This record gives sequence, structure tokens and C-alpha cells, in this order.
Amino acid sequence: MTKIAVFVGSLRKESFNRSLAEGIEGLMPQGVEFEYVDMGLPLYNQDLDGDLPAKVVELKKTVEDADGVLFVTPEYNRSFSGVIKNAIDWGSRPWGKNSFAGKSVAIVGASSGTLGTSQAQSHLRNVALFLDMKVMGQPELYFNAATGLNADGGIAEGSEDFLRGFAKKFADFVESNK
Ligand code: FNR
Repeated sequence: MTKIAVFVGSLRKESFNRSLAEGIEGLMPQGVEFEYVDMGLPLYNQDLDGDLPAKVVELKKTVEDADGVLFVTPEYNRSFSGVIKNAIDWGSRPWGKNSFAGKSVAIVGASSGTLGTSQAQSHLRNVALFLDMKVMGQPELYFNAATGLNADGGIAEGSEDFLRGFAKKFADFVESNK
């Protein structure tokens, strides 16, 4: 069994990024399990590094127990969402206890526009590398929700093959770094 901790960077009920994450989950090879991190976290506060909130303890355990991490981020004002940054800041602390170190990671994102989160992903890649994550370089996945999703939020038929290929490549990447 391969476990992936999944961070969806939008709290919106009908989030395209949540749909993308669930779409990828459905196309993963057998034996890969997604665990969605609860992103409804308090704002990061260094005063609490010595006494982490329960949800943060849970987040750190989910990441540490996982073989890989998938970040699914919207692009907000040409960067990744504060929701993701807040979760990463918590998971990286307290000093010396970075839960992400050495984890195999993929970064993807969906947007309503044609530019498809490329700047958000580029910023997030930088943070992931700083935190010593092993970031998968290819294939990149910039998902345009307008063409990639059906009206019910499912993956459009024309996007399935590419996403299946991405899912297999990520599963193999995680497996090879176990
Ligand atoms: C956006 N959006 C957006 N899109 C983009 O491609 N580049 C950007 O810089 C931004 N900036 C931005 C800022 C803020 C505050 C919001 C709320 C939105 C549009 C964004 O792609 C769209 O709202 C997506 O639907 C957000 O993802 P979810 O919530 O559907 O997962």
C-alpha cells in the first residue's frame, strides 16, 4: 500500500482543485491511497510551536505516515494560496521537526483561466525544495477547469488519458523513493 497525503489549497465548496484531486485519486493505480489533510487550520503562530494545536499534530502525523505528498493549489494573485502556505508552515515546525523532509512530492493546480496555475506552482516548488522535499519534475500538470471538468465536476473525457499518465508517473516516482 502506498499512502499519499493530499493538500487541497482551496476551501471553496465547489472547488475545481478539489475536483482535480478527486479526479486524480480515481485514476491512481491500485494500491495507492489518498488521505486528505484537514486544511481548516488556525493561522500559523510561532508561540504555539511548543504546544501544537490538535489539528496540526494530526497533519504532521498524516504527512510522516505517508509515502508521498500531493499539493493541489489554486493560483491566487500569481502565487499559491495562503491556505497551502499556512499548512506548510505548520508542518515544517517546530524547528528541526520538518515533517516534509525527504518526502516525494508532486505539485499540480487548476484554474478557471488559460494560464493554469503555472506561477503558483513555480513558487510552491521553491518552498518544497527549501523544505527538502523530493519534487517530481515531469509531467507538469496545469489544469484548465473550463475544458478539463464536466458540469458535474468530474474529469472530462478528453483529460482522462493525460491525468492517468500523470497518476502512474507519480505513483512510480513515490515507489522508487520509498
Ligand atoms: C483568483 N484566480 C486566479 N486565477 C489565475 O489563473 N491566476 C491568478 O493569479 C488568480 N488570482 C486569483 C485571486 C483570488 C483571490 C481568487 C479568489 C481567484 C481565479 C482562480 O483560478 C479561480 O477562482 C479558481 O476557481 C480557484 O480555484 P478553486 O477554488 O476552484 O479550487
